[in-house]
Amino acid sequence: DEIEKGGYEHFMLKEIFEQPNSIADSMRGRLDAKNSKITLGGIREYADALTEANRIIIIACGTSWHSGLVAEYLFEEFCRIPVEVEYASEFRYRNPVINKGDVVIAISQSGETADTLAAIELAKSRGAIILGVVNVVGSSISRASHEGAYLHTGPEIGVASTKAFTGQLSVLIMIILSVAVRKKTITDARLKELLTDLACIPDKIRKVLASNDKIEYIASLFKDARNFLYLGRGYNFPVALEGALKLKEISYIHAEGYPAAEMKHGPIALIDEEMPVVVIATRDSSYDKIVSNIQEVKARKGIVIAVVTEGDVLIPKMADYVIEVPKCDEALMPLVSVVPLQLLSYHIAIMRGCNVDQPRNLAKSVTVE
Ligand code: G6P
Repeated sequence: DEIEKGGYEHFMLKEIFEQPNSIADSMRGRLDAKNSKITLGGIREYADALTEANRIIIIACGTSWHSGLVAEYLFEEFCRIPVEVEYASEFRYRNPVINKGDVVIAISQSGETADTLAAIELAKSRGAIILGVVNVVGSSISRASHEGAYLHTGPEIGVASTKAFTGQLSVLIMIILSVAVRKKTITDARLKELLTDLACIPDKIRKVLASNDKIEYIASLFKDARNFLYLGRGYNFPVALEGALKLKEISYIHAEGYPAAEMKHGPIALIDEEMPVVVIATRDSSYDKIVSNIQEVKARKGIVIAVVTEGDVLIPKMADYVIEVPKCDEALMPLVSVVPLQLLSYHIAIMRGCNVDQPRNLAKSVTVE
């Protein structure tokens, strides 16, 4: 066990710190930023079906469902294909509409989640093409899929998913951009920009990891909080959901993730001087809007912990604590902005004496309903 942890105290911390390498592994042999090329050997026969899909249905559970949400935004932005992101457990017990030309993408770290597998079988029986985005090679979901792409991020042991999430994002982005190229819905210049930035993601994550001590300090201030709110907009909205999920999974603190603007339709009622609000407020097209949301929280005396782009001078004046992340294309930002939230939840859980690698009541892969 100790050897496998590679000098880290817990698998979760090891897996968080592995991300620069595990993301590089997920892109190895696939991404050629210099020549603006993506090669996904696992999606060949059905590449046309995906490119011509009338609709894409993404099926997943838990953290994998969050990476599906990011993929929805990306598919719509770059490929102009409508996407629905479904909880496998809901999808399988509805009477879902599946039309000719619909493609299902199933996302699963373990490849063994019972609900996701059953949802795939249902979609398949109705004629859908299934593409798997899976980490575990040879798993049930990879076998049940027509084609797919493995994450290649290596085994994930900690129950709370970290490197699998960023691995999923990197693989999904490569799938999406290769579809955009085939569909000609992206310009060469934009593609080049994104692929160049994608190749730099491991280094950007290294920079975030260098803030570990600061994040640990912030964690020490909030370890006794009873509730947390996480807010984000656009590509950072699923990151808010994922940050909240990480915290509740391992620290047992109640946490909710919300689209920042929806806050005024409910969660704002919870904000007082005891409520820590983590706002993912990196420089992007919704920056001005999220600045207003931070002001709304501060006006109600909430405590703002903001994740900002390095060099931001405005938000540090309003927020109580800031964590900087490197500048990054907004479409790729979730790969970077999720990392400080993983560390924050890890440190809070450790300070509360929780078993981070095996939190109570949770399983690494849920193979029963
Ligand atoms: C469990 C795990 C989560 C995971 C979810 C989906 O709840 O604890 O970390 O996100 O299952 O698992 P999958 O293997 O299908 O991605």
